Amino acid sequence: MAGEPDRPELTAAVSSAGGLGSAGVAYLQPESLREHIRIIRGLTDRPFAVNLFAPAPSDASPEKIARARELLGPLRSRFGVTDEAPILTMPDFEAQLAVVIEEKPAVLSFTFGNLTGQQVARLKNAGIVVVGTATTVPEAEALEASGVDAIVAQGAEAGAHRGTFLKSFSQSLIGLMALVPAMVDRVRVPVIAAGGIMDGRGIAAALMLGATGVQLGTAFLVSSESGADRSWKNEILALTSDRTQVSRVYSGRPARGIRNLMMETLETHIEELPGFPAMNSLTRAIRSAAAKSGDTGAQSLWAGQGAVLARAMPAGDLLRALADETGRRLDEGYRG
Ligand SMILES: Cc1cc2nc3c(=O)[nH]c(=O)nc-3n(C[C@H](O)[C@H](O)[C@H](O)COP(=O)(O)O)c2cc1C
Repeated sequence: MAGEPDRPELTAAVSSAGGLGSAGVAYLQPESLREHIRIIRGLTDRPFAVNLFAPAPSDASPEKIARARELLGPLRSRFGVTDEAPILTMPDFEAQLAVVIEEKPAVLSFTFGNLTGQQVARLKNAGIVVVGTATTVPEAEALEASGVDAIVAQGAEAGAHRGTFLKSFSQSLIGLMALVPAMVDRVRVPVIAAGGIMDGRGIAAALMLGATGVQLGTAFLVSSESGADRSWKNEILALTSDRTQVSRVYSGRPARGIRNLMMETLETHIEELPGFPAMNSLTRAIRSAAAKSGDTGAQSLWAGQGAVLARAMPAGDLLRALADETGRRLDEGYRG
């Protein structure tokens, strides 16, 4: 969970409890990434994953950036943000990969695109298991053709950014119930189900659909070790029904989060806004000022459609509860 929620303590807690903790380090410069991996190693001797964003095309014309600055003006004033937001680019992906290959975490997972066959081969030759993310069957087939070891099937329910990279985002919002069996039938590598899974019921269901494993984000977002702001966690824990929406107002790339004032205001201008990561840079100072003042109206409140089922507890306890619940569900079988 790249950004604020990511903490070495969270990755380590999940791995130490028997899961595969995943470090969301896409925004880290290569040397910080190396240090981050070493910190996790100091906290757990169990395997963990490192997650990066595959390079993706970006639409950030000067006109769109200027228009976004204009539209964000009132929010900047409201939160007292005075400095001109610099347009940041993502860290150099090849340099990030080089660090990963040197540091050799057990797993490298990625989203937002595909790697070349050669990049995948370099990782695998270093003994690293490579996992890609797909939101459609053709994306899964493209990842398999690059040689990945496993594929995350990201359903439309999933919290935060969409991993879509072949067709339009709106054509790639497939519910997990339909996506997993379709993908399992078309690729030979293991499929890991992600999206809306919050407890043992969801895990058992995903396994029944043919998934080999599951990946949970939102469920761990509210855990004690997650760095998500308290106001963001509280907003999730207070949900009584789904209030999430996929929108690209916060970062320039479609992502699912709880609807709030900033999302509603900027959605009406969506065609005028630049893409990722330019928009992410433009909203960054506003988002952190809003978080500092506990105001949830202008934070990117990423959450999946299952958020209403979130339970606040230490990540290790949650992992053990999930394992117990899944075991019980599977033992009980179907009781119609
Ligand atoms: C706050 C947050 C940040 C996320 N960041 C990443 C990321 O950096 N890389 C990635 O591959 N997936 C990321 N995801 C998506 C998860 O990998 C996964 O697809 C999703 O959480 C599954 O749906 P769920 O949130 O309903 O469990 C993120 C999810 C959340 C909630």
